[in-house]
Amino acid sequence: MTLSTATLAGVVSSRTVLLKRNDSDKLVFESEDFSRKGRELAANPQAAVTLYWKEVHRQVTVTGQARPLSDEESDEMWRQRGRANQAATVATHEGDVISSLEEELELHKKADAIFSAAAPIARPSSYRAYGLYPVTIEFWEGSEARLHRRLFYEQQGSHSWAWRRLQP
Ligand SMILES: Cc1cc2nc3c(=O)[nH]c(=O)nc-3n(C[C@H](O)[C@H](O)[C@H](O)COP(=O)(O)O)c2cc1C
Repeated sequence: MTLSTATLAGVVSSRTVLLKRNDSDKLVFESEDFSRKGRELAANPQAAVTLYWKEVHRQVTVTGQARPLSDEESDEMWRQRGRANQAATVATHEGDVISSLEEELELHKKADAIFSAAAPIARPSSYRAYGLYPVTIEFWEGSEARLHRRLFYEQQGSHSWAWRRLQP
């Protein structure tokens, strides 16, 4: 899914992240808290995601607040991560500049060494599961001739949602 975050000054950034879980109250994804998105969310939890299914011509857009989940939930997500991904996460520092090809190859070697060691790979405290708690959700269903269907849901209090149809 495409995750958009913003600084407090309103400078927006977007990137693809994996939707790891769709809970009844949140969309769960994972990242590093020092990454650009992590820093932006720490300062400003307002976020949006877009999911698009080309084959069925459907889109879901969600806005709300994204917050780090508990250490226990982050641990659980880390355990589900493949060992190669764990090793790469520990060996690298997402977003840091790489100044030479040699430095890049060194990172690969470091990840390989961590992967090959017998020990379990501990979760770095910077690796976190995040939950996006929806405030609005729009379901968009495409149709030919541009007469798309749009259903817009908006949270009203903690357990109730108002919805309306929007023109395409
Ligand atoms: C298909 C795909 C899946 C990705 N999944 C994740 C993910 O789950 N978590 C993540 O932090 N980055 C993921 N990335 C990398 C991000 O798009 C991005 O490059 C990285 O998180 C750094 O973003 P930032 O500097 O804006 O924080 C994925 C990229 C692609 C193309």
